[in-house]
Amino acid sequence: MNSIRALDTEEVADPSPAPLSLTALSSTGAAEIPGLNLSRSLPSATIAAIRRALCDSPVLVFRDQSLSKSQQAAFSAQFGELEGHIGKLSDGSTFPLVHTLTNLDAERNVVNMDVAKLNWFWHTDKSYHAVPSFVTILHALEVTPEGGETQFSNAHLAWAALPPATQARLDGLQAVHDWVASRINSGTSPATAAQRRERPPVTHPLVRTHPETGRKSLYIGVHVSHVAGLPESESKALIAELTRHIGKPEFLYTHRWEKGDVVMWDNRALHHRALANYEIAAHPRVLNRTVVVGTRPV
Ligand SMILES: [Fe+2]
Repeated sequence: MNSIRALDTEEVADPSPAPLSLTALSSTGAAEIPGLNLSRSLPSATIAAIRRALCDSPVLVFRDQSLSKSQQAAFSAQFGELEGHIGKLSDGSTFPLVHTLTNLDAERNVVNMDVAKLNWFWHTDKSYHAVPSFVTILHALEVTPEGGETQFSNAHLAWAALPPATQARLDGLQAVHDWVASRINSGTSPATAAQRRERPPVTHPLVRTHPETGRKSLYIGVHVSHVAGLPESESKALIAELTRHIGKPEFLYTHRWEKGDVVMWDNRALHHRALANYEIAAHPRVLNRTVVVGTRPV
C-alpha cells in the first residue's frame, strides 16, 4: 500500500483540520483514509476533502470505526439527503434510513435472503430510480471469518477499455432500469403491485458522465430491463456482453471486510456486488447501511 497523495483542505475556511492522507488499496480506485473518527462531527473542510477523494478513488475505506445508527446517519447526511428504500422488513414495515443488512437474526436463524440475493449480481444502487444514489455507506458490525466480500468494478475503467468502435456504438443508447426486471433478472420474488406503482421503469443513458469529473462510464447492472430501441435478442446479447466485460479482473477491487470497517462508494463510478461465497447459516454478517441521494444521470 502506497500513500498516493495528500488531500488539500486548506482552501476551505474552516478551523484547520489536519490534511488527510490517502492510501491506495488497488489500482482500480480504492483507497483507505486513516486517522479519522467518523463518530465525531467532522470539519466541513474534511467532508469536502472526502468528497474530492471520491473523484479519484470511488471506493473509500475507513478502518476501526464504531458508529451508532444515529452517528452513521449524521456522518452520511453531510454528503446529502439520506434515501429510503423500496424493500420492506419481514414485518412489512419500511426500511429505516439506517438499515441493517444481516444473514442471521438474534436467534441465529437465517433471515429471508430474498432481497439480499439481488445484491449478488452487478448493480449500482437504486438505478431503478429516476434520481439514483450518490454514495452508499456500509459499516461492518459483524463479519464472517472468510468470504462475504463486496466486489467493486470501476465503470470508468470498463468504459475506457472498450474499443473505439464499440464506444461509438454504445454512446447515446438508453437503457431501461426497472424494479420488476430486477427481480426477474435476479430470480428473487416478483415485485408487488405496490412496488410496480411506486417504481415505474426509468430510462438512463447506457454511458453516463460523472457530474464532478466529467469522465464517462458504463451504466448497466441487474436492474436493467433492456436497451431501448434494440430488438430483444440484440438487447439481451449486449447486456450479457457488457456484464461479462465489467466483471473482468482488471477493473475490480474486492473488499475483505474487517469488523469496524466503514466503506463508502460512489455509485456514479462503479458497479458492485456481494459475494455469496460463505456458509450463510454458519456466521452472522451484520452491516449498517445508509444511502445518499444522487443526481439524474446524463
Ligand atoms: Fe448494492
